[in-house]
Amino acid sequence: MEVLFIIVNPLCRNMLMLSKLLYNSSRFRNLVNNRISWRGDSALQDGRVEGLDLSKGMYDAGDLMKFGLPMAFTATMLSWAILEYGDRMDAVNQLGDTRDSLKWITDFLVNAHPSPNVLYIQVGDPELDHMCWERPEVMTEERPLFQVNTSLPGTEVAAETAAAMASASIVFRKSNSSYCDLLLMHAQQLFTFADSYRGSYSISVPQVQKYYNSSGYGDELLWAAAWLYHATRDQSYLKYVTELSGPQFANWGSPSWFSWDDKHAGTQVLLSRINMFGGEKGMTDKEVIYLEMYRKTSEAIMCGLLPDSPTATSSRTPSGLIWISQFNALQHPVASAFLVLLYSDYMSTSGIPTLYCSGKLYTPADIREFAISQADYVLGYNPMEISYLVGYGNDYPLYVHHRGSSIPVNATTGCGDGFVWRDSPDLNPNVATGALVGGPFLNESYIDSRDNYMQNEPTTYNSALIVGLLSGLVRTASVVESFT
Ligand SMILES: *[C@@H]1O[C@H](CO)[C@@H](O)[C@H](O)[C@H]1NC(C)=O
Ligand SMILES: *[C@@H]1O[C@H](CO)[C@@H](O)[C@H](O)[C@H]1NC(C)=O
Ligand SMILES: *[C@@H]1O[C@H](CO)[C@@H](O)[C@H](O)[C@H]1NC(C)=O
Ligand SMILES: *[C@@H]1O[C@H](CO)[C@@H](O)[C@H](O)[C@H]1NC(C)=O
Ligand SMILES: *[C@@H]1O[C@H](CO)[C@@H](O)[C@H](O)[C@H]1NC(C)=O
Repeated sequence: MEVLFIIVNPLCRNMLMLSKLLYNSSRFRNLVNNRISWRGDSALQDGRVEGLDLSKGMYDAGDLMKFGLPMAFTATMLSWAILEYGDRMDAVNQLGDTRDSLKWITDFLVNAHPSPNVLYIQVGDPELDHMCWERPEVMTEERPLFQVNTSLPGTEVAAETAAAMASASIVFRKSNSSYCDLLLMHAQQLFTFADSYRGSYSISVPQVQKYYNSSGYGDELLWAAAWLYHATRDQSYLKYVTELSGPQFANWGSPSWFSWDDKHAGTQVLLSRINMFGGEKGMTDKEVIYLEMYRKTSEAIMCGLLPDSPTATSSRTPSGLIWISQFNALQHPVASAFLVLLYSDYMSTSGIPTLYCSGKLYTPADIREFAISQADYVLGYNPMEISYLVGYGNDYPLYVHHRGSSIPVNATTGCGDGFVWRDSPDLNPNVATGALVGGPFLNESYIDSRDNYMQNEPTTYNSALIVGLLSGLVRTASVVESFT
């Protein structure tokens, strides 16, 4: 695994610079800490119209919108990566920065939740935002706020935010116990709000449909309860994911693709921890049976991903990348590979020697191979011989759809006239080092063009996912059996 160490070390650093500095609307008063020379303060007034400070958080992608659902998912994934692989991040000197990136989001989420049943879920108006192509530091357009509340509920976004805060509370438990308590309080309130006032945020705030439309909220409720169980060991959350709401929402036996929209697969794997590490003491027989169903579904997910398994999915490119959607294609293989890596590590750590897939047996090492294959593809072992991680390798995207990256720092253009930079034939003047772009078509071709947002726009959740995957590949080692 030494080879991976070398690969991961610069990668993680770059990625963390990305998540910490590139996307966030940071207010870096101390420029010593700003390792991206082309970024400075922006959006310092976000939230002011309603007396809130929403200046932190992250823009979701290449534009300047703060969208609550993907932002919270980004935080949950960073937390999960830290909880499982924090020791490996530490080994390559990345743990502190990853925690800082996470806190930059959770600080925002705390402020976005000013009372138990109100959560601000968006800053900015995408229609106004998309009329501009400007550096975030100079933007002047209005940035309206959108909230969910008891009359306009948003179960998935409130529950995902609860998951983010519950998982982050575990991350900060040792280093900052008052912050941990604060996050946990918000997480519990948000879960209660999400569950008591059920309704899709896509209906309450239809403006989100065009960008981050939700396919349902049952998965987020289970995901949040699973994280709250890990954070508190309170049996009521366990009861919630098993007897109470599992039958309605868990989709046992039906694997699905893990993403910012669908948390089923993540929940299956996260809950498999309990079963695999013998954590069922004190549980009812029913709870144990339901946890086994989560574990069985995780196995079905693994068997579907392993390329030569009898139940292998055919949703792959000719050279083996998991491929589900033309838009931001890499999100699914990277998310899947992260789950596979976790499952392989859970097996090794708990001494489970093999996974059975309809007649074939796989060792943890076999399973890990799949995760490595997806990471390799992303990093340049693909027919285009391009690394989809900006700044890594000899050949990587040079025309990334990212405003800050595409406009020179000294440019004097603003909103509308800034499109000269989007449409310019020149390379991006500022390298968005660490950005993971959308990725290839099914036929494995890829067009490195700035207006190709389908393939060439990076997102924060892609970055959080690849941080988890690459951190896990730093070395082979056992994982902690309990987060608490
Ligand atoms: C919910 O939010 C909407 C939109 O901001 C607002 O009109 C409504 O009054 C809010 N409802 C409650 C109960 O706060
Ligand atoms: C804990 O977090 C709070 C909230 O961000 C912060 O004000 C405080 O300085 C932190 N304490 C430590 C010891 O880091
Ligand atoms: C958003 O998702 C809902 C289902 O959750 C669907 O009914 C609706 O058509 C979707 N909207 C768009 C614009 O895709
Ligand atoms: C901006 O900086 C670049 C690189 O230093 C330089 O070539 C260019 O002339 C500058 N443009 C303006 C408008 O100052
Ligand atoms: C690959 O697929 C894309 C999207 O479907 C298509 O536009 C392109 O022409 C294809 N390229 C080749 C070489 O077939």
